[in-house]
Amino acid sequence: MKVFFITTNINKYKEAKQVLEEYNIKLMLLKYPLMEIQSKSLVESIIWKGAQGFKILDEYYIVEDAGLFIKPLKGFPGVYSSYIYKTIGINGILKLMDNISNREAYFEAVGFLSLKNNIFKLFVERVHGIISNEIRGDRGFGFDPIFIPRGSNKTYAEMDLSEKNRFSHRGKLFRKIGEYIKNNILHGKSI
Ligand code: IMP
Repeated sequence: MKVFFITTNINKYKEAKQVLEEYNIKLMLLKYPLMEIQSKSLVESIIWKGAQGFKILDEYYIVEDAGLFIKPLKGFPGVYSSYIYKTIGINGILKLMDNISNREAYFEAVGFLSLKNNIFKLFVERVHGIISNEIRGDRGFGFDPIFIPRGSNKTYAEMDLSEKNRFSHRGKLFRKIGEYIKNNILHGKSI
């Protein structure tokens, strides 16, 4: 089965593609810059962003968004993750965390899967971890060099694609989507 992933982030596409291959789902990249709203909730913004796809293609497709929520910073950068990454970046985050011993943080990923007739299903997954004391690793993208997921002592940027997928919020999210497609679409149950 073929499903489109509408994103401009090739790294996200590679991660998601690898996960969905395990479910015999061929993920196709549709590089299209969907408009985004600034909202206090990732779920609200993904609904707005995902619904634009109905006007673009008449196929199953996925849209995904993620954010890094740092507990001692009261959830910052959270829904502002993209803007903060582009402005103060990972060095800025480490600076904000100077002398803060509680390094707890989590990544949240939300996914929008289009079904038929303008119907969609939402998925939300979180992975808890900590912010490292320094930049470590040169793989991946975004905040990967400063996030250590629970259960590992490596940052995402020190992991290869399959290891990151085993631990990551996106890995978890796309396994959930893969299971859903397998059980509800591939095997012909009504949705
Ligand atoms: P978005 O989902 O592309 O809006 O991501 C928001 C911000 O979080 C961007 O700056 C991304 O680079 C960053 N981000 C999203 N997913 C990941 C990830 O898996 N690792 C590291 N940073 C991420």
